[in-house]
Amino acid sequence: MSMTTASLYERLGRHEGITRITRELMKNHLANPLVKTRYENSEDLARVERRAIEFFCAGTGGPESYSGQDMLATHRGMNISEQEFMTVIDDAMDALEKCGIDTPTRNDVLAVLWSLKNEVIRV
Ligand code: HEM
Repeated sequence: MSMTTASLYERLGRHEGITRITRELMKNHLANPLVKTRYENSEDLARVERRAIEFFCAGTGGPESYSGQDMLATHRGMNISEQEFMTVIDDAMDALEKCGIDTPTRNDVLAVLWSLKNEVIRV
């Protein structure tokens, strides 16, 4: 069997698609009673959104570079729970679906997010 595989960055719609997905993601977080205050309390949500776009672009194979801190430093001291981690992942899956991303691609994103759990939960 031969198969050509586009990068995850391409399958998410490159910079433009990832920007749209990230905006949906932030919208979901701000409407999610389990985590909304976390984001409402941020001093600069526009910066967080910008950095999140860079992070997803760079981390999925795009040419952008990420100008933020690593995941451990970003979330250190926040005492993020397993439940918060799960619901943030659900917000991401919902944003991907809303933006028309197919199931195999959503599952690839899920695997990437899951792999970061030890850098986010109770660090
Ligand atoms: C794999 C899952 C996650 C990823 C990839 C991720 C990624 C990021 C990124 C890229 C930033 C921006 C960093 C910066 O501005 O330098 C950020 C900020 C933030 N994250 Fe996460 N995050 C994850 C999970 C979570 C969870 C579960 C919570 C808790 C509800 C959370 C709460 C926050 C908050 C409140 C900020 C803003 C901090 C600030 O205002 O500076 N994150 N995250």
